[in-house]
Amino acid sequence: MGGIGKTEVAMWYVFSRRTKFDAVFWINADTTEKLSLGFTEMSMALGLEDESAPEDEIERRERVKGWLSNPIITANQGTPKANDEASWLLVLDNADDPNILYDFWPDTGTGCVIVTSRNPLSKDTVYSPSLSIDLAPFKLNEAGPFLQSLSNREYEENSLEACTKIVEILGGLPSGITQMGGITRRRHMSLEEFLAYYEENAGNYMIQQFQAKGDPICKPSLPSGC
Ligand SMILES: Nc1ncnc2c1ncn2[C@@H]1O[C@H](COP(=O)(O)OP(=O)(O)O)[C@@H](O)[C@H]1O
Ligand SMILES: [Mg+2]
Repeated sequence: MGGIGKTEVAMWYVFSRRTKFDAVFWINADTTEKLSLGFTEMSMALGLEDESAPEDEIERRERVKGWLSNPIITANQGTPKANDEASWLLVLDNADDPNILYDFWPDTGTGCVIVTSRNPLSKDTVYSPSLSIDLAPFKLNEAGPFLQSLSNREYEENSLEACTKIVEILGGLPSGITQMGGITRRRHMSLEEFLAYYEENAGNYMIQQFQAKGDPICKPSLPSGC
């Protein structure tokens, strides 16, 4: 489901494991064009661009895949890691059409790939066998305190009950909760006012969710330092 927290979970995985990898790549994988753009950025970051040859997307993609299959550290010559095999993590975010990943999938190698997708078929295609996780909405006992904290109401009497009621209406969906937390904060609404506002605007809200098609409704916030 869009807004359930796939990108957020991948981001926290990257953030918390960032010191375990020599290289981390994050690519938006919703379309072939964005994948190609991501591979161009990887090629540049890895120093694989062939400046003497005309740019060819397929050649460039294959060069990057070649590096992922045989990831030798060429930078930092003179340091103990130079010429070692690099450990790498590649995140393919928002890969709702798993078929477009085939051309970009490294053939061999010991790196790690995280794919986030709204498409349940993603689990059984390119990257099988693999570990797959279905994300569930927040439980009420997690979501109530989350909204309470987002709307700065930890110290308000009965606010937990009101927040729990609101998150129940929102189905525990993280994107809905973060969006509503922001609305109540920005508009300085009481929780009762919020409930009235929500009832009036529920129709619009559902349309926004539908249009988001997996894109975060609110921009995910990076943990500081990420
Ligand atoms: N576990 C979480 N804790 C706090 N906020 C979260 C959590 N999961 C998701 N969110 C927030 O919910 C919103 C939607 O999450 P996102 O990861 O973009 O969803 P998806 O990638 O599934 O569409 C973002 O604003 C994100 O920061
Ligand atoms: Mg996402």
